[in-house]
Amino acid sequence: MPEPKFDACHIRFSPDDKAAFVTCGASLAEAAARAGVLISLPCGGRGTCGKCRIRVLSGEVTEPTDAERSLLTEAEIAAGFRLACQARVLTEAALEVPQDSRALDRKEIGLLQSRRFSFEPGVCNCVVEVEQASLGDQRSDLDRLRAALGEDFDLPCSLKALRRLPASTRASGRSTRVIAAANRIVHVSPASELNGIYGAAVDLGTTTVVGYLFDLETGEYLASAASYNPQARHGADVVSRINYAMTNSHGLTDLHQEAVGVVNDVIAQAAHQAGVGLDDIYEVTLVGNTCMHHLFLGVDPRHLGQSPYVPSLTELVNAEARDIGLDVHPSANVAVLPVIAGFVGADTVGLILAGELTERPHAAMAVDIGTNGEVALWNGRDLLVASCAAGPAFEGAQIQHGTRAMPGAIERVEVRDGDLLAITIGGLPAVGICGSGLFDAVAVLLELGAVDSMGRLVAAEGLPEALARRVSGEGPSRQVLLAAADESGDGRPVVLTAHDIRQVQLAKGAVRAAVELLLAEAGLTAEDLGEVLLAGAFGNYVNPRSILRIGLLPPSVPEERVHGVGNAAGAGAALALLSLAEREKAVELAHQAQHLELFTSIKFQEVFAEAMLFV
Ligand code: FES
Repeated sequence: MPEPKFDACHIRFSPDDKAAFVTCGASLAEAAARAGVLISLPCGGRGTCGKCRIRVLSGEVTEPTDAERSLLTEAEIAAGFRLACQARVLTEAALEVPQDSRALDRKEIGLLQSRRFSFEPGVCNCVVEVEQASLGDQRSDLDRLRAALGEDFDLPCSLKALRRLPASTRASGRSTRVIAAANRIVHVSPASELNGIYGAAVDLGTTTVVGYLFDLETGEYLASAASYNPQARHGADVVSRINYAMTNSHGLTDLHQEAVGVVNDVIAQAAHQAGVGLDDIYEVTLVGNTCMHHLFLGVDPRHLGQSPYVPSLTELVNAEARDIGLDVHPSANVAVLPVIAGFVGADTVGLILAGELTERPHAAMAVDIGTNGEVALWNGRDLLVASCAAGPAFEGAQIQHGTRAMPGAIERVEVRDGDLLAITIGGLPAVGICGSGLFDAVAVLLELGAVDSMGRLVAAEGLPEALARRVSGEGPSRQVLLAAADESGDGRPVVLTAHDIRQVQLAKGAVRAAVELLLAEAGLTAEDLGEVLLAGAFGNYVNPRSILRIGLLPPSVPEERVHGVGNAAGAGAALALLSLAEREKAVELAHQAQHLELFTSIKFQEVFAEAMLFV
């Protein structure tokens, strides 16, 4: 490889208008990932698929490799096209990324791209001509504005909007803009003054929080951001959060402020990426499990943790942003979607809504694999739901090198020539392993005989030679090397430990038990399921074969009927933001759902014990 001309190269990407400094000699794929532009790397960057084409607009990169010469035409190379996994930057450069070379952002709401809905947001924006006051017309500014708006618009006006009324209705041109949300006038200004109308949809998870930003005038998706839920310092699951709220005098306040704080954080990150002012966000929709729902609203969740485990409220809540403490337009409407039961929340409603589960002509199941696992089953007539405590393993928590689905996370593990091949998001050096990588890693180790039916990592003797070299330690301290120190982002090896596999075993056992009991309740067998939707913060990539191999679903479900749908709960929140009709549908679904209580079920314990085994 020719010597790079500088130590660090500034690489700019279009049409994203994103940039990053990378060490010269880094691959184009690595530079893209560092800039937050994700490239699809179907062959894991081995230069065999030719799908990662990027066009070099300016700057110098390495000469085409043999792989590039065999996968690109001469005309393409002459036009500047290169393979992102092969070509390396030598100088400052400008690169263009074609749409078909892009990977879905792991936070992205894939379901929304294929889901049809009518775009009718809850924020309405109109411009009216307001009559000027005169000695002959001494109606107040507000009365003249209301008259201009017409009878159907007899809405209360927020204090902030009232304060802007005198100047707005007297501005030259006399055209006045009115923005209303949830039956309140929230903004008044001269018509010429408008920065845009935006909305945010948030999935407030027990472990991971994701926010999505949309343009509410066009419906366009603008940006997303994710963060870990800071409440995790009080415990990994909802029961520990409830306990913290019950046993500390400031518990509820702490948890409420942390929930609001992290929602503010993801909205601010997304708004910053999109160059949108927080004051121009006029509506926020939010989904979360019932505990997160209560804590976000500041409602005491203690009764969720005590028999009979009832929520304090289940319906859709509309509140003003200022009352909750959200740093968006202070009068913005915050719509918190309805919950179903004490442990089946608005995230499940979002999943059912986005996955159109009840529209399916056949029996179908949706499984949300989060810290609180939720399962919904549609048998063509009834909608049954249940939840289980899966633990945060599949979101990367309580796993030694677990991480969120982010650039550099190992998202796939395959077997190549008897050895493990770890493939990371963006083709970056490994920073850890995310949920989909965990499914794969355990499935592959089961397949190779490195994990036994009890979930124990076996000794290296007897394993294929390449794999045996990756196994170290004894008994419960045994571990498998996934990425060596020189393949990782921070110079430390990425390993999968016996304890990690135990966490996966507990999580999959809980979800599987919920699946089995719901099927039994509905009088169905696994073969009856026409489709199974797998949702979760692990991202849009999930290998159904791995899911079936680890036994998270019954093995008799045909592989081709299992589909990963990414963060479907977030997609549900986005639908409720973009369409009032979808928001109403969410309310109907929450009413329609019949809850099966597993929390205290003896049967659940029996099925769980069996479902823990790897068979
Ligand atoms: S050629 Fe397959 S990812 Fe680059």
